[in-house]
Amino acid sequence: MGILLISDIRKHFGGHTVLDGIDMEIEEGKIYQLIGPNGSGKTTLINVISGMLKPDGGKIVFDGQDITTKGLYDTFNTGLVRTWQIPQPFRTLTTLENFVISSGDNSGESFLLAPLKSKWKDDEKKITDDALEIMEMVGLIKQKDTVSQNLSGGQQKLLELGRAMMSSAKMILMDEPIAGVNPTLAHEIFDKISKICKKQKITFLIVEHRLDIALQYADYIFAMNQGKIIAQGNPNDVIKHPEVVESYLGE
Ligand SMILES: Nc1ncnc2c1ncn2[C@@H]1O[C@H](COP(=O)(O)OP(=O)(O)O)[C@@H](O)[C@H]1O
Ligand SMILES: [Mg+2]
Repeated sequence: MGILLISDIRKHFGGHTVLDGIDMEIEEGKIYQLIGPNGSGKTTLINVISGMLKPDGGKIVFDGQDITTKGLYDTFNTGLVRTWQIPQPFRTLTTLENFVISSGDNSGESFLLAPLKSKWKDDEKKITDDALEIMEMVGLIKQKDTVSQNLSGGQQKLLELGRAMMSSAKMILMDEPIAGVNPTLAHEIFDKISKICKKQKITFLIVEHRLDIALQYADYIFAMNQGKIIAQGNPNDVIKHPEVVESYLGE
């Protein structure tokens, strides 16, 4: 069974239908991409799945739990984590510090456990070890002590990916992770995502506009237009689908 099951999701803004009955079934440990022309509803769908917006109809089940009406925070706690189109790290903290505070299980932050220093000392060591391992995976180990506001745009995207992994995400939602990133670094980011997906069995749903770069990294594509899924399947078939081709004309 899929890790994320979406059925008949609807969303209206005023009289305008933006999501018009979306169905999706997503299996664990694969990279899914959501494509479609501007205004087709991709960001709205990511907002609805992540709990930022409530749908007007339909159902969303993640990892066996009905999350349809859960907000951002509760959805995040089920292991479904969204990174933001514009990275929002803690700008004056280092990469390592940003990773450590993104960890969900630091008991030193708990009011009751804070005095039990021996307990959180162990946690802290484990969290730092995890942070170093994930930093290695996303390619930021050399920037461990760099204050995040001094990272390049592409490195900030990698920071965001690493922070999502630190939160023990089972599935990561990304909205245009390579927007504004040069092609070399964009390939590097997708290459990291591929490796993380395979090694950690994390599932990805990624909205992407730059098909020339992104498509080769997808296991499966959903193509949207005007609030509907108009085609889905393997990348080569989907981009040749007449409705998909037509929807991109005039962009
Ligand atoms: N908060 C909102 N209020 C009203 N209309 C919105 C809102 N968010 C998005 N829309 C409209 O929904 C449509 C889909 O937008 P969006 O989901 O951002 O598309 P995409 O990410 O595919 O470019 C657009 O017509 C947009 O103007
Ligand atoms: Mg968008």
